[in-house]
Amino acid sequence: MNSTSSLFSPITLGNSKLNHRLVLCPLTRFRADKDHVPTPMMAEYYGQRASEGGLMISEATYITPADGVLPNTPGIYSEAQIEGWKEISKSVHTKGATMFLQLWHTGRAACSQLNPNNEQPIGPSAISIQGKGLTGVPYEMPRALETHEIPKVIETFVQAAKNAIEAGFDGVELHAANGYLVDQFINTSSNKRTDLYGGSIENRARFAMELVGAVAEAIGEERTAIRFSPWSGFQDMKDDTPYETWGYLVSQFQEKHPKLGYVHFIEPRDDFLGRLDQPERAHIAVTETVEPFQNIWKGPFIVSGGYTANPKRAFETADKNSNTLVAIGRAFISNPDLPLRLKNNWPLSPYDRSTFYTNDAVGYTDYEFYTE
Ligand SMILES: Cc1cc2nc3c(=O)[nH]c(=O)nc-3n(C[C@H](O)[C@H](O)[C@H](O)COP(=O)(O)O)c2cc1C
Repeated sequence: MNSTSSLFSPITLGNSKLNHRLVLCPLTRFRADKDHVPTPMMAEYYGQRASEGGLMISEATYITPADGVLPNTPGIYSEAQIEGWKEISKSVHTKGATMFLQLWHTGRAACSQLNPNNEQPIGPSAISIQGKGLTGVPYEMPRALETHEIPKVIETFVQAAKNAIEAGFDGVELHAANGYLVDQFINTSSNKRTDLYGGSIENRARFAMELVGAVAEAIGEERTAIRFSPWSGFQDMKDDTPYETWGYLVSQFQEKHPKLGYVHFIEPRDDFLGRLDQPERAHIAVTETVEPFQNIWKGPFIVSGGYTANPKRAFETADKNSNTLVAIGRAFISNPDLPLRLKNNWPLSPYDRSTFYTNDAVGYTDYEFYTE
Protein backbone atom coordinates (compact mmCIF):
# COMPACT_ATOMS: atom_id res chain seq x y z
CA MET A 1 0.00 0.00 0.00
CA ASN A 2 1.46 3.35 -1.02
CA SER A 3 -0.06 5.09 1.97
CA THR A 4 1.88 2.94 4.45
CA SER A 5 5.29 3.74 2.93
CA SER A 6 7.72 5.87 4.94
CA LEU A 7 7.21 8.44 2.21
CA PHE A 8 3.99 9.29 4.01
CA SER A 9 5.33 9.22 7.53
CA PRO A 10 6.20 12.31 9.61
CA ILE A 11 9.68 13.73 10.05
CA THR A 12 11.08 16.77 11.84
CA LEU A 13 12.98 19.11 9.52
CA GLY A 14 14.44 22.38 10.75
CA ASN A 15 11.78 23.93 12.93
CA SER A 16 8.93 22.11 11.17
CA LYS A 17 7.12 18.87 11.72
CA LEU A 18 6.36 17.46 8.30
CA ASN A 19 3.58 14.94 7.63
CA HIS A 20 5.19 13.42 4.56
CA ARG A 21 8.54 13.33 2.75
CA LEU A 22 7.63 14.27 -0.79
CA VAL A 23 9.32 17.58 -1.57
CA LEU A 24 8.91 20.12 -4.39
CA CYS A 25 12.28 20.47 -6.18
CA PRO A 26 13.65 23.93 -6.92
CA LEU A 27 12.34 24.79 -10.41
CA THR A 28 13.17 27.96 -12.34
CA ARG A 29 10.03 29.03 -14.23
CA PHE A 30 10.56 32.61 -15.46
CA ARG A 31 7.29 33.95 -14.01
CA ALA A 32 8.69 36.91 -12.02
CA ASP A 33 8.39 40.43 -13.49
CA LYS A 34 11.07 42.38 -15.34
CA ASP A 35 12.45 43.74 -12.05
CA HIS A 36 12.78 40.18 -10.72
CA VAL A 37 9.86 40.71 -8.35
CA PRO A 38 7.73 37.62 -7.60
CA THR A 39 4.22 37.91 -9.06
CA PRO A 40 0.74 36.96 -7.79
CA MET A 41 0.78 34.16 -10.38
CA MET A 42 3.76 32.67 -8.55
CA ALA A 43 1.83 32.81 -5.26
CA GLU A 44 -0.97 30.88 -6.96
CA TYR A 45 1.45 28.30 -8.43
CA TYR A 46 3.25 27.59 -5.15
CA GLY A 47 -0.05 27.63 -3.24
CA GLN A 48 -1.42 24.96 -5.60
CA ARG A 49 1.56 22.71 -4.86
CA ALA A 50 1.50 23.25 -1.08
CA SER A 51 0.17 20.43 1.09
CA GLU A 52 -0.41 20.06 4.81
CA GLY A 53 2.94 19.13 6.37
CA GLY A 54 4.78 19.15 3.01
CA LEU A 55 8.14 20.76 2.18
CA MET A 56 8.70 23.01 -0.82
CA ILE A 57 11.90 24.51 -2.17
CA SER A 58 11.64 27.67 -4.26
CA GLU A 59 13.15 28.22 -7.67
CA ALA A 60 16.73 29.54 -7.68
CA THR A 61 16.66 33.15 -6.48
CA TYR A 62 19.25 35.84 -7.13
CA ILE A 63 20.99 37.39 -4.16
CA THR A 64 22.37 40.40 -6.06
CA PRO A 65 21.58 42.24 -9.30
CA ALA A 66 25.30 42.04 -10.15
CA ASP A 67 25.09 38.42 -11.28
CA GLY A 68 24.00 38.66 -14.91
CA VAL A 69 20.42 37.89 -14.10
CA LEU A 70 18.14 36.07 -16.50
CA PRO A 71 14.91 37.88 -17.33
CA ASN A 72 11.88 37.07 -15.21
CA THR A 73 13.76 35.11 -12.59
CA PRO A 74 13.17 36.28 -9.03
CA GLY A 75 15.56 38.00 -6.66
CA ILE A 76 15.64 38.58 -2.90
CA TYR A 77 17.73 41.74 -2.69
CA SER A 78 15.11 44.53 -3.01
CA GLU A 79 12.22 45.63 -0.79
CA ALA A 80 9.73 44.98 -3.60
CA GLN A 81 11.04 41.42 -3.99
CA ILE A 82 10.74 40.76 -0.25
CA GLU A 83 7.15 42.04 -0.36
CA GLY A 84 6.40 39.84 -3.38
CA TRP A 85 7.82 36.74 -1.69
CA LYS A 86 5.69 37.46 1.42
CA GLU A 87 2.59 36.67 -0.64
CA ILE A 88 4.12 33.32 -1.59
CA SER A 89 5.16 32.31 1.91
CA LYS A 90 1.68 33.31 3.10
CA SER A 91 -0.03 31.26 0.41
CA VAL A 92 1.90 28.07 1.23
CA HIS A 93 1.71 28.53 5.01
CA THR A 94 -2.06 28.91 4.76
CA LYS A 95 -2.10 25.34 3.46
CA GLY A 96 0.20 24.08 6.21
CA ALA A 97 3.37 23.66 4.13
CA THR A 98 6.97 24.57 4.95
CA MET A 99 9.08 26.42 2.38
CA PHE A 100 12.80 27.09 1.94
CA LEU A 101 14.04 29.73 -0.50
CA GLN A 102 16.90 28.62 -2.77
CA LEU A 103 19.70 31.22 -2.83
CA TRP A 104 21.65 31.47 -6.09
CA HIS A 105 24.85 33.02 -7.31
CA THR A 106 25.71 31.85 -10.82
CA GLY A 107 29.38 32.94 -10.68
CA ARG A 108 31.10 32.23 -14.01
CA ALA A 109 27.77 31.24 -15.61
CA ALA A 110 26.59 34.88 -15.48
CA CYS A 111 26.35 37.25 -18.42
CA SER A 112 28.12 40.64 -18.26
CA GLN A 113 25.64 42.22 -20.70
CA LEU A 114 22.98 41.79 -18.04
CA ASN A 115 25.08 43.22 -15.20
CA PRO A 116 24.25 46.78 -14.09
CA ASN A 117 27.66 48.09 -15.24
CA ASN A 118 28.49 45.22 -17.60
CA GLU A 119 30.91 43.87 -14.99
CA GLN A 120 32.75 40.70 -15.88
CA PRO A 121 31.30 37.60 -14.18
CA ILE A 122 33.21 36.35 -11.17
CA GLY A 123 34.45 32.86 -10.38
CA PRO A 124 37.04 31.01 -8.35
CA SER A 125 39.46 30.96 -11.31
CA ALA A 126 39.78 32.52 -14.76
CA ILE A 127 38.43 29.45 -16.56
CA SER A 128 35.38 29.81 -18.78
CA ILE A 129 32.66 27.25 -19.42
CA GLN A 130 32.65 25.91 -22.99
CA GLY A 131 29.67 26.64 -25.24
CA LYS A 132 26.65 28.87 -24.72
CA GLY A 133 25.06 30.02 -21.46
CA LEU A 134 21.50 30.14 -20.23
CA THR A 135 20.94 33.36 -22.18
CA GLY A 136 22.07 31.79 -25.46
CA VAL A 137 25.32 33.78 -25.68
CA PRO A 138 28.72 32.13 -25.24
CA TYR A 139 29.91 31.78 -21.65
CA GLU A 140 32.47 34.41 -20.73
CA MET A 141 35.87 34.35 -19.13
CA PRO A 142 35.26 35.04 -15.44
CA ARG A 143 37.40 37.23 -13.23
CA ALA A 144 38.99 35.20 -10.44
CA LEU A 145 37.84 36.60 -7.10
CA GLU A 146 40.60 38.14 -5.01
CA THR A 147 40.93 36.45 -1.63
CA HIS A 148 39.88 39.62 0.18
CA GLU A 149 36.63 39.80 -1.87
CA ILE A 150 35.34 36.41 -0.72
CA PRO A 151 33.92 37.59 2.64
CA LYS A 152 31.90 40.21 0.73
CA VAL A 153 30.30 37.54 -1.45
CA ILE A 154 29.46 35.53 1.65
CA GLU A 155 27.97 38.65 3.24
CA THR A 156 25.73 39.07 0.18
CA PHE A 157 24.39 35.53 0.77
CA VAL A 158 23.90 36.31 4.47
CA GLN A 159 21.86 39.44 3.70
CA ALA A 160 19.75 37.46 1.22
CA ALA A 161 19.15 34.79 3.88
CA LYS A 162 17.99 37.46 6.34
CA ASN A 163 15.72 38.87 3.63
CA ALA A 164 14.26 35.39 3.05
CA ILE A 165 13.39 35.11 6.73
CA GLU A 166 11.87 38.59 6.64
CA ALA A 167 9.80 37.41 3.65
CA GLY A 168 8.36 34.68 5.85
CA PHE A 169 10.29 31.59 4.70
CA ASP A 170 11.16 28.75 7.05
CA GLY A 171 14.73 28.62 5.84
CA VAL A 172 17.09 28.87 2.88
CA GLU A 173 18.69 26.28 0.64
CA LEU A 174 22.14 27.35 -0.57
CA HIS A 175 22.45 26.40 -4.25
CA ALA A 176 25.75 24.54 -4.34
CA ALA A 177 24.81 22.31 -7.30
CA ASN A 178 24.72 22.33 -11.11
CA GLY A 179 27.85 24.34 -11.78
CA TYR A 180 27.01 27.61 -10.03
CA LEU A 181 29.33 29.65 -7.83
CA VAL A 182 29.53 27.44 -4.73
CA ASP A 183 29.90 24.32 -6.90
CA GLN A 184 32.59 26.08 -8.95
CA PHE A 185 34.69 26.48 -5.80
CA ILE A 186 34.27 22.80 -4.93
CA ASN A 187 35.15 21.09 -8.24
CA THR A 188 38.70 20.54 -9.43
CA SER A 189 37.70 21.43 -13.02
CA SER A 190 36.76 25.02 -12.14
CA ASN A 191 38.98 25.83 -9.15
CA LYS A 192 42.71 26.21 -9.76
CA ARG A 193 43.30 28.72 -6.97
CA THR A 194 46.55 28.72 -5.08
CA ASP A 195 45.29 30.51 -1.96
CA LEU A 196 43.35 29.03 0.99
CA TYR A 197 40.31 28.48 -1.26
CA GLY A 198 41.93 26.15 -3.81
CA GLY A 199 44.06 23.03 -4.10
CA SER A 200 43.26 20.49 -1.39
CA ILE A 201 39.74 19.21 -0.70
CA GLU A 202 39.72 21.15 2.53
CA ASN A 203 40.59 24.35 0.66
CA ARG A 204 38.06 23.83 -2.16
CA ALA A 205 35.40 23.14 0.47
CA ARG A 206 36.30 26.26 2.44
CA PHE A 207 33.96 28.63 0.57
CA ALA A 208 30.96 26.32 1.15
CA MET A 209 31.93 25.75 4.79
CA GLU A 210 32.34 29.45 5.53
CA LEU A 211 29.10 30.19 3.70
CA VAL A 212 27.12 27.63 5.68
CA GLY A 213 28.71 28.85 8.93
CA ALA A 214 27.90 32.51 8.23
CA VAL A 215 24.32 31.89 7.10
CA ALA A 216 23.67 29.52 10.02
CA GLU A 217 24.98 32.11 12.44
CA ALA A 218 22.73 34.78 10.95
CA ILE A 219 19.43 32.86 10.71
CA GLY A 220 20.01 29.65 12.67
CA GLU A 221 21.36 26.22 11.76
CA GLU A 222 17.86 24.72 11.55
CA ARG A 223 16.92 27.26 8.91
CA THR A 224 20.02 26.65 6.78
CA ALA A 225 20.28 23.90 4.14
CA ILE A 226 22.41 23.12 1.08
CA ARG A 227 22.04 21.33 -2.28
CA PHE A 228 24.86 19.46 -4.06
CA SER A 229 25.27 17.52 -7.33
CA PRO A 230 28.61 15.68 -7.35
CA TRP A 231 27.98 14.11 -10.77
CA SER A 232 25.97 16.71 -12.67
CA GLY A 233 28.64 17.38 -15.30
CA PHE A 234 26.59 20.45 -16.24
CA GLN A 235 28.55 23.62 -17.09
CA ASP A 236 31.81 21.68 -17.24
CA MET A 237 31.67 20.47 -13.64
CA LYS A 238 34.02 17.63 -12.87
CA ASP A 239 35.76 16.67 -9.71
CA ASP A 240 38.70 14.27 -9.50
CA THR A 241 37.52 12.60 -6.28
CA PRO A 242 33.74 13.08 -5.77
CA TYR A 243 33.37 10.64 -2.86
CA GLU A 244 36.24 12.18 -0.93
CA THR A 245 35.27 15.78 -1.74
CA TRP A 246 31.59 15.67 -0.82
CA GLY A 247 32.27 13.11 1.89
CA TYR A 248 34.56 15.67 3.52
CA LEU A 249 31.90 18.39 3.26
CA VAL A 250 29.16 16.25 4.77
CA SER A 251 31.45 15.01 7.57
CA GLN A 252 32.28 18.60 8.38
CA PHE A 253 28.60 19.51 8.51
CA GLN A 254 27.91 16.53 10.75
CA GLU A 255 30.69 17.62 13.09
CA LYS A 256 30.24 21.40 13.04
CA HIS A 257 26.63 22.01 12.03
CA PRO A 258 24.65 18.89 12.92
CA LYS A 259 21.39 20.82 13.20
CA LEU A 260 21.28 22.07 9.60
CA GLY A 261 17.72 21.92 8.27
CA TYR A 262 18.74 19.33 5.72
CA VAL A 263 21.39 18.24 3.26
CA HIS A 264 20.15 17.74 -0.32
CA PHE A 265 21.90 15.65 -2.98
CA ILE A 266 21.01 15.27 -6.65
CA GLU A 267 21.47 11.62 -7.58
CA PRO A 268 23.80 10.57 -10.39
CA ARG A 269 20.81 9.22 -12.33
CA ASP A 270 19.37 12.72 -12.71
CA ASP A 271 18.36 13.02 -16.37
CA PHE A 272 16.69 16.40 -16.62
CA LEU A 273 19.20 17.83 -19.07
CA GLY A 274 19.22 14.65 -21.16
CA ARG A 275 22.90 14.08 -20.50
CA LEU A 276 22.50 10.44 -19.55
CA ASP A 277 22.12 9.82 -23.29
CA GLN A 278 25.78 10.68 -23.71
CA PRO A 279 27.75 7.43 -23.78
CA GLU A 280 30.52 8.84 -21.60
CA ARG A 281 28.01 9.71 -18.88
CA ALA A 282 25.47 6.88 -19.05
CA HIS A 283 27.49 4.61 -16.76
CA ILE A 284 27.52 7.22 -13.99
CA ALA A 285 23.83 6.64 -13.30
CA VAL A 286 24.52 2.99 -12.64
CA THR A 287 27.87 2.96 -10.91
CA GLU A 288 27.74 6.02 -8.65
CA THR A 289 25.56 6.63 -5.60
CA VAL A 290 24.90 9.26 -2.95
CA GLU A 291 24.55 6.60 -0.24
CA PRO A 292 27.99 7.17 1.33
CA PHE A 293 27.02 10.80 1.99
CA GLN A 294 23.71 9.71 3.43
CA ASN A 295 25.50 7.32 5.75
CA ILE A 296 27.50 10.20 7.20
CA TRP A 297 24.65 12.69 7.66
CA LYS A 298 22.31 11.91 10.55
CA GLY A 299 19.78 14.70 9.97
CA PRO A 300 17.15 15.01 7.21
CA PHE A 301 18.63 14.01 3.85
CA ILE A 302 16.87 14.93 0.61
CA VAL A 303 17.54 13.06 -2.61
CA SER A 304 16.33 14.14 -6.04
CA GLY A 305 16.91 13.55 -9.72
CA GLY A 306 15.23 10.99 -11.91
CA TYR A 307 12.15 10.45 -9.74
CA THR A 308 9.92 12.00 -12.42
CA ALA A 309 10.92 9.19 -14.76
CA ASN A 310 10.19 6.64 -12.05
CA PRO A 311 8.07 8.08 -9.22
CA LYS A 312 7.52 4.63 -7.69
CA ARG A 313 11.20 4.58 -6.80
CA ALA A 314 10.46 7.37 -4.30
CA PHE A 315 8.76 4.79 -2.07
CA GLU A 316 11.74 2.42 -2.12
CA THR A 317 14.16 5.27 -1.43
CA ALA A 318 12.16 6.57 1.51
CA ASP A 319 11.75 3.10 2.96
CA LYS A 320 15.48 2.39 2.84
CA ASN A 321 16.70 5.07 5.27
CA SER A 322 14.70 6.63 8.07
CA ASN A 323 16.09 10.15 7.50
CA THR A 324 15.21 10.37 3.79
CA LEU A 325 12.98 12.77 1.86
CA VAL A 326 12.51 12.65 -1.90
CA ALA A 327 12.27 15.79 -4.04
CA ILE A 328 10.52 15.64 -7.39
CA GLY A 329 10.77 18.21 -10.18
CA ARG A 330 9.02 17.82 -13.51
CA ALA A 331 6.18 15.58 -12.30
CA PHE A 332 5.33 18.25 -9.70
CA ILE A 333 5.08 20.85 -12.50
CA SER A 334 2.21 18.96 -14.16
CA ASN A 335 0.66 17.50 -11.00
CA PRO A 336 0.00 20.17 -8.39
CA ASP A 337 -1.47 17.49 -6.10
CA LEU A 338 1.44 15.08 -6.60
CA PRO A 339 1.63 13.84 -2.98
CA LEU A 340 -2.03 12.82 -3.04
CA ARG A 341 -1.70 11.19 -6.44
CA LEU A 342 1.25 9.09 -5.35
CA LYS A 343 -0.31 8.20 -2.03
CA ASN A 344 -3.54 7.05 -3.68
CA ASN A 345 -1.95 5.57 -6.77
CA TRP A 346 -3.82 7.99 -9.02
CA PRO A 347 -2.52 8.51 -12.58
CA LEU A 348 -0.08 11.34 -13.29
CA SER A 349 -0.53 14.04 -15.94
CA PRO A 350 2.37 14.49 -18.39
CA TYR A 351 4.38 17.72 -18.36
CA ASP A 352 4.91 19.98 -21.36
CA ARG A 353 8.55 21.00 -21.65
CA SER A 354 7.72 23.79 -24.11
CA THR A 355 6.07 25.81 -21.31
CA PHE A 356 8.80 25.36 -18.66
CA TYR A 357 10.37 28.73 -19.43
CA THR A 358 7.51 30.80 -20.88
CA ASN A 359 5.98 33.76 -19.04
CA ASP A 360 2.27 33.17 -18.62
CA ALA A 361 -0.22 30.92 -16.85
CA VAL A 362 -0.24 28.29 -19.61
CA GLY A 363 1.71 25.27 -18.41
CA TYR A 364 2.15 26.99 -15.05
CA THR A 365 -1.04 27.39 -13.02
CA ASP A 366 -3.43 25.57 -15.36
CA TYR A 367 -2.46 21.94 -14.61
CA GLU A 368 -5.47 20.22 -13.09
CA PHE A 369 -6.03 18.57 -9.73
CA TYR A 370 -7.09 14.94 -9.95
CA THR A 371 -10.79 14.15 -10.02
CA GLU A 372 -12.14 10.62 -10.16
C1 LIG B 1 12.25 23.60 -15.52
C2 LIG B 1 13.34 23.23 -14.57
C3 LIG B 1 13.92 24.21 -13.79
C4 LIG B 1 14.90 23.88 -12.83
N1 LIG B 1 15.39 24.86 -12.01
C5 LIG B 1 16.23 24.54 -10.99
C6 LIG B 1 16.61 25.51 -10.04
O1 LIG B 1 16.17 26.67 -10.08
N2 LIG B 1 17.46 25.13 -9.06
C7 LIG B 1 17.96 23.86 -8.97
O2 LIG B 1 18.72 23.55 -8.04
N3 LIG B 1 17.58 22.89 -9.84
C8 LIG B 1 16.71 23.21 -10.85
N4 LIG B 1 16.28 22.22 -11.69
C9 LIG B 1 16.61 20.80 -11.42
C10 LIG B 1 15.49 20.16 -10.60
O3 LIG B 1 15.46 20.70 -9.29
C11 LIG B 1 15.62 18.62 -10.49
O4 LIG B 1 16.88 18.30 -9.93
C12 LIG B 1 15.47 17.95 -11.83
O5 LIG B 1 14.31 18.41 -12.50
C13 LIG B 1 15.43 16.43 -11.69
O6 LIG B 1 14.29 16.00 -11.02
P1 LIG B 1 13.06 15.31 -11.82
O7 LIG B 1 13.64 14.14 -12.56
O8 LIG B 1 12.08 14.89 -10.77
O9 LIG B 1 12.51 16.35 -12.75
C14 LIG B 1 15.33 22.53 -12.69
C15 LIG B 1 14.77 21.56 -13.52
C16 LIG B 1 13.79 21.88 -14.44
C17 LIG B 1 13.16 20.78 -15.26
